Amino acid sequence: MRPAPCARPWTAPWYPRPMTEPRFSFAGIPVRGRLILAPMDGYSSWPFRSLCRDLGSSLSYTEFVRTGDVLERPEFLEDKLVFREEERPVLIQVYGNDPRDMLEAALRLQEREPDAIDINLGCPTSSIAGRGAGVGLMRTPLLTARIFRTLAGRLSVPVTAKIRLGWEDCRKYLLIARIIEENGGQLLAVHARTKEQRHHGPPDLEALAEIKDSLTIPVIGNGGIQTTADIREMLRVSGCDGVMIGRGAVRNPWIFSWLDRDEIPPEQVLDVIREHLGRSQDFYGPKRGLILFRKHAARYLEPYQLPASRRRHLLTRTDPEQFLTLVEETLKQVPDSPFLSSNSPG
Ligand SMILES: Cc1cc2nc3c(=O)[nH]c(=O)nc-3n(C[C@H](O)[C@H](O)[C@H](O)COP(=O)(O)O)c2cc1C
Repeated sequence: MRPAPCARPWTAPWYPRPMTEPRFSFAGIPVRGRLILAPMDGYSSWPFRSLCRDLGSSLSYTEFVRTGDVLERPEFLEDKLVFREEERPVLIQVYGNDPRDMLEAALRLQEREPDAIDINLGCPTSSIAGRGAGVGLMRTPLLTARIFRTLAGRLSVPVTAKIRLGWEDCRKYLLIARIIEENGGQLLAVHARTKEQRHHGPPDLEALAEIKDSLTIPVIGNGGIQTTADIREMLRVSGCDGVMIGRGAVRNPWIFSWLDRDEIPPEQVLDVIREHLGRSQDFYGPKRGLILFRKHAARYLEPYQLPASRRRHLLTRTDPEQFLTLVEETLKQVPDSPFLSSNSPG
């Protein structure tokens, strides 16, 4: 199945995507940058993903989908799986633990013509990990080997993986990383925390370095990046080929242009809010698009520490024009706003 056509022109005149030389490649696919938006269920669907790509993220991972859903109710997955030609390279991520079902699901996902199929070995949620999928797979090396061997042998697109460091009582990251490579995995993203750490605590950069040193396929480091200094530190210590950014990018998608959040003037924030909301409404429809955008708006406005009542008022608007007017008024009032200085007398 072909990706759906894009309603909104891709190359937004407001922010041309920088053209860069490939920084690394996997399975012969060039990756034109070191920074990559992390797959995040509920966040990294097309509107936010495409925005981050315009700002400099160099790969697109879809939100994960369950093998059972791919096989039994694919019609519910459309929003998660749609991508645009201009986003390539695109990796569709799937989780499961039954080699036969995973192969069947991956073959169906392959019909959508992604650049790779990515296997999730990182999800810590008990309903997934407890059933042996996600990070649960990191406890079963033989099964992991079989899954990768099976998929790599049958798919015509590359197979890649995203892992964690394992479980506190079973930090098998080196073994699992090697198994993935030996059984045909072509790219490895590593969330440098254990299952029990979930999304908290500093990433283990030394463990990332160990993995990078013991593999020949490219390795992407992930975990805890909030600033450009964090990116530099992860690259320096680990030697990873790329850095994947999750929650830090929801707060600051400009990080993909190597900019910290405090470097972004309010009028640029407004620009991105307009663009992001527009893409969300194009993708989900006017009403749902605004509702699904609210959680992003809350993150964009977080640094301004708005009074709770104003924040609530703003984030409960149902009329997009009214919402944007309120955002604009709010951003005009924040200190250091260029709106204020350009309007101020003299
Ligand atoms: C809301 C949310 C949803 C996530 N969904 C996925 C997912 O679908 N697939 C995946 O591999 N990781 C998922 N993750 C994990 C992120 O990709 C990433 O590994 C994690 O957030 C650590 O990176 P960070 O510290 O930069 O946020 C999710 C994380 C969050 C917070």
